[in-house]
Amino acid sequence: MYAFAEADDITFQLETLQSLLDPSTRMVLDSLDDPTGQEWLEIGYGLGSIARELSRRIGPIGVVHATDLDARPLAAPVDGAPIRTFPLDLRTDELPRRPYRGIHGRLVLLHIPERRAILSRLVDALEPGGVLVVEDWYCPEPPRVLACADPADEKVFTEVVAGILAELRSRGADLEWAAATRDAFVEAGLTDVRVTRSDADCAGPGLAHRLYACNARQLRSRLAESGLDDDILDRFQEVAGRPGLVTTGWRLYSTIGTKPAAG
Ligand SMILES: C[S@@+](CC[C@H](N)C(=O)[O-])C[C@H]1O[C@@H](n2cnc3c(N)ncnc32)[C@H](O)[C@@H]1O
Repeated sequence: MYAFAEADDITFQLETLQSLLDPSTRMVLDSLDDPTGQEWLEIGYGLGSIARELSRRIGPIGVVHATDLDARPLAAPVDGAPIRTFPLDLRTDELPRRPYRGIHGRLVLLHIPERRAILSRLVDALEPGGVLVVEDWYCPEPPRVLACADPADEKVFTEVVAGILAELRSRGADLEWAAATRDAFVEAGLTDVRVTRSDADCAGPGLAHRLYACNARQLRSRLAESGLDDDILDRFQEVAGRPGLVTTGWRLYSTIGTKPAAG
């Protein structure tokens, strides 16, 4: 089951993710052909910033379909493509038969054990010549602490982020999947496969540290069950908010591939 399916503070979590990653995703979308008038699918759309970004780029003649486990309506930007939302569990539900010219998903397949079967179904759903864009973090280890005010902070930061990662793994996440997407795209029959990598800003108290603090609150009871006591979990909230904390970041892999044209 998705680790944050029933978590508190989901809006805050997703807003933080969007602020952290939307600039990288916009650059990836900039590198694609002009999508004006096309029909796209956004999977696991969260709060929908990238569905809206696609709508802006596609314009009023095209369509954006956006799907998530629990799909709420999304307002399209003025002069954007209409955004049609629908609920769908990628593990079990069939994708609608549409002539998708493009499909995008960010931080979705990482979490779902059936990711390779889903990838193959996403390729099936693309029209010939269509493009698939999958973005995921490569995050098997906690970020390294480069600077902190108190040497004890490093231990607190590393232990709690390691606990978050262990919890995600126990829920079926593959934290190394991002580095395997290029091969997975080729195996799924996509061509012109390319990968771009970007690192998020990680000086404190920045967005990445705000996200870790939020995740530690969301998963607190499970982190406690795994052996992290209240003192370390409380201290982590302070450490993650300290201006002096500087860490490495997780790398976002954006993998792009094209479905071969028919014939
Ligand atoms: C970490 S959030 C990322 C949200 C958004 N893509 C973004 O980057 O801002 C993961 C999203 O995937 C969705 N998700 C998780 N498991 C899913 C599944 N089995 N089927 C469809 N969506 C799923 C979650 O509901 C959530 O919105």
